[in-house]
Amino acid sequence: MYRSRPEGSIDREILNYVSSLKDDSEIFFYDIIGSEVHVIMLHEIGYLSRGELVELLQALEEAKHHPKSIMKKSEHEDVHESVESFVVEKIGMSKGGMLQTARSRNDQVMTDLKMKVRNDINEVSILLGNLVETLLNSADSNKQTLMLLYTHLQHAQIGTFSHYLLSYTESIFRDMERLEELYSRINQSPLGSLAIGGSSFSVDRNRTASLLGFDQLSINSIDATSSRDMILEYLACLGILMITLSRISEDFILWTTDEFKYIELADSASSTSSAMPQKKNPDPLEILRSKSGGILGNLIASMTILKGLPSGYSRDLQDLKSLVFSSTTTTVNSLSMLRFVIESSIVHKTRMLEIAKSSFANAIDVAELLTSKKYLEFRSAHKLVGSLVKLAISNGKHSLEDLGEIEIEQLLQASGYQIQVEALKEIIVACRAENVLALRKSKGSPNHSEQVEMIHHNKMRLMNFRDRTAKRKKAIDKAYDDLSKIVRSYTFGSES
Ligand code: ARG
Repeated sequence: MYRSRPEGSIDREILNYVSSLKDDSEIFFYDIIGSEVHVIMLHEIGYLSRGELVELLQALEEAKHHPKSIMKKSEHEDVHESVESFVVEKIGMSKGGMLQTARSRNDQVMTDLKMKVRNDINEVSILLGNLVETLLNSADSNKQTLMLLYTHLQHAQIGTFSHYLLSYTESIFRDMERLEELYSRINQSPLGSLAIGGSSFSVDRNRTASLLGFDQLSINSIDATSSRDMILEYLACLGILMITLSRISEDFILWTTDEFKYIELADSASSTSSAMPQKKNPDPLEILRSKSGGILGNLIASMTILKGLPSGYSRDLQDLKSLVFSSTTTTVNSLSMLRFVIESSIVHKTRMLEIAKSSFANAIDVAELLTSKKYLEFRSAHKLVGSLVKLAISNGKHSLEDLGEIEIEQLLQASGYQIQVEALKEIIVACRAENVLALRKSKGSPNHSEQVEMIHHNKMRLMNFRDRTAKRKKAIDKAYDDLSKIVRSYTFGSES
C-alpha cells in the first residue's frame, strides 16, 4: 500500500523479515486514537470537511473492534499500514487516502510508543505501591521480630525483620520516584513532526497533544521522531527496580534453606521435584532472579541498537519496541508474584531469635557500652571484646553470655584491662539479644521507636505517592474519555 516508487510487491520473505506486526498489537489501540485526534485536527484546521472527518472516524471506530483480523494481515509491514489499509478498504481511497495527510509513521510510532510507556509507568507504579503496602504491613507485624543482620553474609549485628523489610521500601520508593520523574519526559507529544522535518500544513500540534493527554510537545521534529533516550531511561528504571526485587528474592531463597529456616514459603507459592519427594523449592523467586537478568539484557540490547544510529529515523528503532513491551510484562508479573510470596510466607520468629541469641552479633554493642560507660576507649574495647569472642569460640561457647566468670577473669588478668569481671558481665547481660535494641539510639536503627516512626512515615509517603499516580492516570483516562465524546459527537446519528 505504501509502494509508490518501488514497483510490484515486496518479496514475501523480506516482508516477514522487516515486519513489526507481531509486536504491534500492544500499540494497536494507541495507533487508532492517535489517528482519530489527527483527523479531528485536520478538520479543525480546515483541511477535512465534516463529512470526510465523520467517515474517517467511523472507519477508525470500526477498526477498534477488529484488532485480531486487522493485525493478522500478513501483507503489511506494521500496525500503521494495516489500520490505514482497513480505513481505505472501508471508505475508499478518495477519503481513506486522506488519513496520512501531514503525518508519517515516524511521528506516529513514537506517539504510540509514548502512550504505551506512560500507561506502563502508571501500571508499574500501582503495583509498586501495592508491594510497598505489603512490606509495610509485614514490617508492622514484625517490629519486635529479632533477627541477625549480615555483612559479607557473616553475622553482623542484631536487628529486626521489620528493619530489613523497611530497607527495601526505601529502595522501592526511589524506584517509584525515578519512574515519576521520567513520566514528565515521556509525556511529550511527537505528533505533527512528520518524517523528520515537519509539514507545510499548519498542523496544530498543541491540539493533538492535548487531545491525547500529553502535557507538552516534544518540540524539535528531528528529536521527536528519532530520539529514544527516554526509552532507554524507562528500561534502566525497570532494570534497577528488578535488581531490587531480585535481591529480595535472593534473601528469601537463602532464608528458606534448612540451614537458615527463617522463612517458609506458602505451599501455593512453592514448586517441588519430580524425583525427591521431600522438596519444596522457591522456584518463583529463582525465576524472578533470572528474569531480572533478561531485563538488563534488554536495556543493553536497546543501548546497542541506538548507539551507532545516525540522526533521523532508521528502521533499527523498530526493534526497541519488543524489548520494551516484554520488559514491562516481566516487571508487572514479577511485582505481583513477589507480593504474593511475601504476603503468604511464614516468618519463623522463634528460629530467628534463637539464632540471634546464639551468636556474637552483639559484640559491637558490648564494645560500645564499655566505651560509653567510660571503661575503655573504643579501640581497646574492640580488642577486649574480640578476645572474649575468640575465647568463647575456642571453649565451645555460642555467645558472650555463655562465658563463665573464671574464664573472663583469666582473660582480664592475662591482658591487663582495667575492668572488674562483674562490671564486664553486667555489660554483656545488658547487651543480650532481647535487650540490645533498646540501647540503639541512632536514627534509622532497628530500635523499636525508630521502627514505629519509619512505618508511619512510609505509610504517609505511600499515600502521597498513590495520590500522584491516581492523578496521572485520571488525567489520561479523562483525555481518552473526552476524545471518545468528541468522536461520538461527530459520528452520532451519521451511521451509514
Ligand atoms: N514499524 C516502524 C516502527 O515500528 C514504523 C515505521 C517507520 N518506517 C519507515 N520506513 N519510516 O518503528
